[in-house]
Amino acid sequence: MTAWEELYESCSKCEKCELHKTRTNCVFGTGSQSSDVLFVGEAPGEKEDLSGVPFVGAAGKLLDKYLYAVGIDRERVYIANILKCRPPKNRDPKPEEEEACIGYLREQVKLLNPKVIICLGRISAMKLIKPDFKITQEHGKWFKKGNYLMTAVYHPAALLRDPRKKEDMMADMENIKEKLEELSV
Ligand code: URA
Repeated sequence: MTAWEELYESCSKCEKCELHKTRTNCVFGTGSQSSDVLFVGEAPGEKEDLSGVPFVGAAGKLLDKYLYAVGIDRERVYIANILKCRPPKNRDPKPEEEEACIGYLREQVKLLNPKVIICLGRISAMKLIKPDFKITQEHGKWFKKGNYLMTAVYHPAALLRDPRKKEDMMADMENIKEKLEELSV
């Protein structure tokens, strides 16, 4: 078994928090395991829980549109979430669930060793960039953490709720594309 397969195996059997009781599938991650680019969302929703694939519901379809618009191929990046199991009724993750689950993402980051990590939304940015991250003020800014260049954009579900944020999202995605070109990734 490869290290990725072993990690998937342990994640799919995980019982470290209550969410395993209500999951249909563990939503581990998808995309290229040799990508330099990692997108990290919050937690699976209903469609993701049913399919085992991140960002396939309404928010995922919107994310696909932005990726397409700036010429980022979804198959050539890696996409994962902070939580691998769906919180009931899509409520926010609890701190103890994040703590129980974050080890899987850390292992994914080690295996992938990306150059750029893009947080999708506030919850992901607060966990990965800094606890007091303010998405309305700091979206699109770049942060260097260890070997990683990190940024956060609005969560696509937030854009569905408030379409006025779409202009900022497009600008941030274009800025990300430019950065990837600059880094030749
Ligand atoms: N929202 C997320 O944060 N992640 C998903 O996989 C789907 C919706």
